[in-house]
Amino acid sequence: MNLQNGFTKTDFGNDFLWGVAIAAAQNEGAHNIDGRGLSIWDTFSRRKGKIKSGHKPYHACDFYHRYKDDLLLVKGLGFNVFRFSISWSRILPEGIGKINKEGIAFYHKLIDECLALGLVPFVTLYHWDLPAALEKEGGWSSHLMIRWFGKYVTLCAEEFGSKVKNWIVLNEPFGFTSLGYMLGKHAPGKVGMRNFLPAIHNAALAQAEGGRILRKLVSNAYIGTTFSCSEIIPYTDKPADIAAAARIDILMNRLFIEPALGDGFPRDDFKFLEKLELHNKAWKFTERLTFRFDFIGIQNYFPVVVKYNPLIPVIQASEVKAKSRNVPHTAMGWEINPHSFYRLLKRFGDYNVKDIIISENGAMFKDELINGEINDERRIDYFQKYLAAVLHAKKEGVNIKGYFAWTLMDNFEWAEGYHARFGLIHVDFKTQLRTIKNSGYWFRYLLNGR
Ligand code: BGC
Repeated sequence: MNLQNGFTKTDFGNDFLWGVAIAAAQNEGAHNIDGRGLSIWDTFSRRKGKIKSGHKPYHACDFYHRYKDDLLLVKGLGFNVFRFSISWSRILPEGIGKINKEGIAFYHKLIDECLALGLVPFVTLYHWDLPAALEKEGGWSSHLMIRWFGKYVTLCAEEFGSKVKNWIVLNEPFGFTSLGYMLGKHAPGKVGMRNFLPAIHNAALAQAEGGRILRKLVSNAYIGTTFSCSEIIPYTDKPADIAAAARIDILMNRLFIEPALGDGFPRDDFKFLEKLELHNKAWKFTERLTFRFDFIGIQNYFPVVVKYNPLIPVIQASEVKAKSRNVPHTAMGWEINPHSFYRLLKRFGDYNVKDIIISENGAMFKDELINGEINDERRIDYFQKYLAAVLHAKKEGVNIKGYFAWTLMDNFEWAEGYHARFGLIHVDFKTQLRTIKNSGYWFRYLLNGR
């Protein structure tokens, strides 16, 4: 194992948060027991051809039953913070109304266990698993989402707020609105602008509203939300490619942070935005989009190279994939580029945000279990380079408070099913046996020195 990192844990400072992140729909399983209602991922996975090999999230890693052992692994690898999400339909099976006491009890046990082990919980309120009952009423495309989400956040804050101080309102709003309400690749599988535009608007409002509710109900709360961010690189220096890259940049990097900062949706010259702005004005909600978050969660996996493409409606841009450019990439086909990550961190450091936390970063590779060992050197190399980039940006003044690796263990990777393995721990989905990969041991060495 390559332990020559070029940095040590102490270089990041004594109060740096070292974490690992998971999400309910990807890990918990137990989809229909103890009163849990179905989520859009349970129902979406039943649709033919939507998820690779017809995989279902029903059992996932069975974290619901195995959380105690799994938390011991988190602790054993040396992490001091743990990010997980609450399954909305586990505590409110119909999304609103009747509360499921067993669901609430589960999260109390999970939180208590974290605290007992000295793992500080970071709780994500929404990591993509909308209650199926609410999707029937329009889901994120419905303006009622603001009210539904508000009630859910209120319940979580009142129940868990005395124990949990660190909150993440949304996981990647651009991710779930674009994949789920425009491209139909993720749950709930909707397509088209008429779903996408209201979903963007409602998610941006819910993000701010969630922040306000937490601020009111939870004393000493540290409140953030997360964004999927990618450096956008024009394919050539032709003006058409540069303009295409700027449009994608608005969508992927600016669409949700700028409203939160009080600037409204970006007002650049881009037809798509005119529609969004109209929608926004019609509702007279601009100021309600604003919330001063204590931290912004940056989630980065790859840069995106973009070229002008007149065939793509409205956006008129398309991605030039890493494979076709012959650059290093992960088994997802995502470019490995720590320099781009560094530049991205510098750029977000220039926004008027208080703290930055890298709330997800990681890589999928085709791991091989040989004689009980997974020697995932490429993943180690990835973390070494990406953490060096974090340190570089931090030393140059970007206010980075912590880093969460994605993810603790192989899990249900959305439309990829169980094929895409991102974990520091290998999971045999037939037996639920966990095997720590060498990347997990590498973290342990970095964090615990052994
Ligand atoms: C999501 C995770 C996902 C990861 C890798 C992020 O966009 O928040 O849930 O597993 O990317 O695809």
